[in-house]
Amino acid sequence: MIQQAARDFAQQELLPGVIERDEEQRFPAEAVRKMGELGFMGMMVDPKYGGSGMDTLSYVIVMEELSKIDASASVVVSVNNSLVCWGLETFGTEEQKQKYLTRLATGEIIGAFCLSEPEAGSDATSQKTTAIDKGDHYLLNGTKNWITNGGTADVYLVMAQTDADKGHKGINALIVEKGMPGFEIGPKENKLGIRGSDTHSLQFNDVKVPKENRIGEDGFGFKFAMKTLAGGRIGIAAQALGIAAGAYELSLKYSKERKAFGKEISRHQAIAFKLADMHTRIEAARHLVYKSAWDKDQGNNYDLSGAMAKLYASEVAMWASVEAVQIHGGNGYVKEYHVERLMRDAKITQIYEGTSEIQKIVISRSVLSN
Ligand code: CAA
Repeated sequence: MIQQAARDFAQQELLPGVIERDEEQRFPAEAVRKMGELGFMGMMVDPKYGGSGMDTLSYVIVMEELSKIDASASVVVSVNNSLVCWGLETFGTEEQKQKYLTRLATGEIIGAFCLSEPEAGSDATSQKTTAIDKGDHYLLNGTKNWITNGGTADVYLVMAQTDADKGHKGINALIVEKGMPGFEIGPKENKLGIRGSDTHSLQFNDVKVPKENRIGEDGFGFKFAMKTLAGGRIGIAAQALGIAAGAYELSLKYSKERKAFGKEISRHQAIAFKLADMHTRIEAARHLVYKSAWDKDQGNNYDLSGAMAKLYASEVAMWASVEAVQIHGGNGYVKEYHVERLMRDAKITQIYEGTSEIQKIVISRSVLSN
């Protein structure tokens, strides 16, 4: 039922205009508002905070369906659900939940997660943004980069260094509101893919953030980011799965319609074998994604299964979308057939919420520690 609801929504609300939004780098604001009404913006949040109270498996099913059609819209869903809502619900105070989570979970407002910096992407412990303890508030200074929902969010979870001598144990996670004096939104990035999503740099110049906006104990910020990202990787794995499955479904349909050398191209083994490989690898990716979601729902550790799901599903997304363009031939190279966009969108799934190399660090450390 959930899958069908997401599929119908994607067909009716995301498909119209998806090419234009990509071309014009236009944020899918109306679709995001409607996804809030459908309960997609706070899927796993307790209903007492305005969420849908569903499990992670339901969430990845929705992510896959949305991503088949529009990965720019699905990344908004992923960041809001996995990083912002989950982080606040799991580690926030009751006051923070009442003030922020209740509106984030319904989609009334959206959130952003701000860890990356010009010189701290993969090397996330090297935070240069500072949050100096001034008694009742922190004084926040620095720059964040590549922030999804950067211009459209109202609530920003910002990681910053309070005590450099303590290294990653001196980092705090702070809730920053749009409009706080000294908080400026930088230029929008002109991206290869997910062009409808809104990616900005952010600048903090002596922003006074009240102490009650800190998430967790003093120095919990890096652990907060790592624990939150571990779940975020499941959402992005599902996004990658959706891009791959979307490319495959378009290819299957096209190959049954397009004729060459006197028959449908699906009846040429060169194409049929590509479809067989795509179907197999996508199904394998789906099993990894579902397994990581199941681990999270069961209360198992999901660092390893989430990293494996993201690593593999993003590789499949990239590979399958290139195959889809090849199957479509010249038509695959133009916008009307959608697969060139899916190919461009696929690339980001190997980069954000930890590059493929970061996933291999997480996986190999886990394997070697046993
Ligand atoms: N859960 C809990 N704690 C964790 C953890 C996890 N999954 N992973 C690491 N930690 C803890 C460690 O236990 C350690 O704490 P202690 O010292 O108390 O033991 C601390 O964090 C530091 O860990 P490491 O020593 O392992 O740190 P490291 O420097 O070797 O880095 C890393 C580890 C995995 C490479 C990490 O830096 C990392 O994940 N980097 C990638 C960051 C990333 O994913 N950025 C994406 C940006 S957000 C984004 O893209 C969102 C968007 O807009 C779409």
